[in-house]
Amino acid sequence: TMYWELSEDTKKNNEFIQKAAFEIRKGNVIGFPTETVYGLGADATSTEAVSNIFNAKGRPSDNPLIVHISNKGQLQDLVDSISETTNLIMDRFWPGPLTIIFPIKKDSNLSEKVTAGLDTVAVRMPNHPIALSLIKEAGCPIAAPSANRSGKPSPTEAKHVKEDLDGRIRGLIDGGATGVGIESTVIQIKDDNIYILRPGSITESQLQEITPSVEFSYERENSNQGNTSYDEQTPISPGVKYKHYAPNGSLTIIKGNEEKKVKKCIQIGVNEAIERGEKTGVLTFTENKSEYNADVVLTYGSRNRIDETAHELYAALRLFDEKKVTSIFAEACSEEGMGLAVMNRLKKAAGNQVVQV
Ligand code: TXA
Ligand code: MG
Repeated sequence: TMYWELSEDTKKNNEFIQKAAFEIRKGNVIGFPTETVYGLGADATSTEAVSNIFNAKGRPSDNPLIVHISNKGQLQDLVDSISETTNLIMDRFWPGPLTIIFPIKKDSNLSEKVTAGLDTVAVRMPNHPIALSLIKEAGCPIAAPSANRSGKPSPTEAKHVKEDLDGRIRGLIDGGATGVGIESTVIQIKDDNIYILRPGSITESQLQEITPSVEFSYERENSNQGNTSYDEQTPISPGVKYKHYAPNGSLTIIKGNEEKKVKKCIQIGVNEAIERGEKTGVLTFTENKSEYNADVVLTYGSRNRIDETAHELYAALRLFDEKKVTSIFAEACSEEGMGLAVMNRLKKAAGNQVVQV
């Protein structure tokens, strides 16, 4: 794996991006930063290139990929018609952490592997200068899932990509830590209704500024079984059925309105785990850091800063693994705004083990 660390030297950075784009054109897979998480990119028009992504990641082939573009003009080759609401949404939120599901154009040049045979395609224009120049230089739409091994937390730093995929990909552009920290919001627009298939940092209320009808359309309590009770009319994202974001240790979320009770419950859980001979961890807000006795206490930002929580969640989950923690307890965050997306990821990481106190 070639490793390109970006710096202040713009000339050198451009050289790196040229090299990475060259590899993409050749059908190879490259790790690169976006504003949400690191992506694992390849030429979306080449079946061989796209297969390389699935192989590197160990991803089930029935889980489709997001196609990344750098300008709206590229949509012409991918989709037939664009509704007025969709145009308004794109103008408001692109480039940015919003993925839109479109009906795919009949004679599009996309590899069928990208869409896993569906008649729709997921498209996003990332708001990150490196991602945008890479797409532009490559001269093709770039298919990219998050750059983690399937099942692991998404990577928010280049070193996370390296941990998971060193030797399995052609190159990795290190552009530092990503901004948002959790994956894009995925939506489908039907008539004037917006369905949220995966919550993210673009929230329900932001989307409602464009059109009032916004519905959630994903399994709120993920059973990890893949059994959904949705009727056929409901759009749903294939990816939601898979185990995701999980650390190696067991993770339990403690949720409650009374903070005192939450803290007490966590400490009891930790004490019991220590008695069982486990290595224990607590994931808490900065305000409460000094209040726990556990082997590893990690914070995910301030209680009132959901942006910090989102930014730090995955790195913390990975750090518990690195420190070989076997039993983790996490304080739940508020499910307001972007908190909904953060809790969605945390619940998946916990396999839905949530204790309400
Ligand atoms: O922020 C992000 O979205 C990151 C960065 C790299 O752009 N990418 C990302 O990709 O999270 P991935 O593959 O980890 O998640 C893509 C999600 C999956 O849940 C997948 O099932 C869904 O999008 N998806 C892709 N194509 C779809 C389609 N045609 N219909 C419904 N869901 C689709
Ligand atoms: Mg992913």
